[in-house]
Amino acid sequence: MDDERRIIAADEVPADGTVLFTVRSGAGADADAETTEAILTKLGDGTVVAFENTCPHWTDVRLDKGSGAYVRNGELVCQKHGATFQRDSGYCDFGPCEGSVLSTFDVAVEDGQVYLTDDAFSFEHLGGSGDHDLSSGSRIDFTGS
Ligand code: FES
Repeated sequence: MDDERRIIAADEVPADGTVLFTVRSGAGADADAETTEAILTKLGDGTVVAFENTCPHWTDVRLDKGSGAYVRNGELVCQKHGATFQRDSGYCDFGPCEGSVLSTFDVAVEDGQVYLTDDAFSFEHLGGSGDHDLSSGSRIDFTGS
């Protein structure tokens, strides 16, 4: 597996949260390529899955703001309005965007390491893209603050 596509050790991916990372569309160093935030989470059988770090309800809202997305009863929770997403499929089974599905990225675990195997993207770095939650402060979130 290509070292440039290594994201993180599989042991470091939590089952009760997420790891935030950034990908770039296309391969290579195209200056016009866009960066996108993604999140990794680990399922009960040790499988690691990756989703786009965007809530389908309001696409300017990130599920993981940098310290891990909220996981409740084994599901990812959007803290803005409480939508819940199945962690194996990204399917929203409750909330204002019920029935929608989080976009996925192809990842694979090999020799204890998680690699981005999605040909449409290259791995940029761990952590966020540097963009901010545009809705912060201007809308009421799930906690009422
Ligand atoms: S923005 Fe995520 S549920 Fe509304």
